[in-house]
Amino acid sequence: MKGEAMAVQEQENVSLPVIPRHIGIIMDGNGRWAVKRGLPRKAGHKAGAKAFERVSEYCEKIGVKYLTAYAFSTENWRRPPEEVEAIMDLLREYLKNAEERREKNSKVRMLFLGDRSALAPDLQEKMDRMERESANKTGITICMAINYGGRDEIAHAARELARLAKAGSLSPEEITPELLEKHLYTRGIPDPDFIIRPSGEQRISNFLLWQSAYSEFIYRDVLWPDFEPEDLRGAIEEFAGRSRRFGGI
Ligand code: IPE
Ligand code: IPE
Ligand code: MG
Repeated sequence: MKGEAMAVQEQENVSLPVIPRHIGIIMDGNGRWAVKRGLPRKAGHKAGAKAFERVSEYCEKIGVKYLTAYAFSTENWRRPPEEVEAIMDLLREYLKNAEERREKNSKVRMLFLGDRSALAPDLQEKMDRMERESANKTGITICMAINYGGRDEIAHAARELARLAKAGSLSPEEITPELLEKHLYTRGIPDPDFIIRPSGEQRISNFLLWQSAYSEFIYRDVLWPDFEPEDLRGAIEEFAGRSRRFGGI
């Protein structure tokens, strides 16, 4: 990084005690935000997508290396079809904008976590292409969790290992946490330093179950569409005050 970008980063970093390497966000509260305003829930998702643009740009600016955002869980299919469709349309729009930014030399690397086989073929194709075309980018890595579930991810990894064992290329004794990790959707990505959940809920809702073993949790009462970069700055400051021991003393 050089010149202007460096200057902006230095300016933004002023008074930030630490820049976390990996932040996870459970983008929750879109529906309540809309209902409070007498709007359809999909308006909340739209406002939530805007909040994500603001927050991801901020993360990029201050030098966060990985940002993982929970956009649609394996359980969210239980919602009415028109709400699911509205979320998928927003994903389509996000991919279109990301593609335009990539063409304008954005440094963002994009990854999608989750079982994409259940998504519409055009979405799968766009996601595959985006990952391929941004694979060598050196800026922030944005991991968008879509049709993602922590339990599904671990079962998926176990299935892959079982296949290898059945084929005779892996013995059960070789299965270690390190090996299993190589079969998760997040392979190669460091565990999140902290996970933030807005909207007042204090639960993990099947997000990054394996990877959050030692992540710090930060909760906020603000609904996701109202979430501002300033809220993330506050969370980073709170995180910096936590004492992480990883089982040691
Ligand atoms: C999060 O907002 C977005 C998704 C789960 C897709 P919600 O839609 O869950 O908002 P609330 O929790 O109903 O307010
Ligand atoms: C978690 O939020 C999933 C996402 C933000 C994508 P939910 O709103 O689905 O979680 P619960 O149902 O309140 O636990
Ligand atoms: Mg919710």
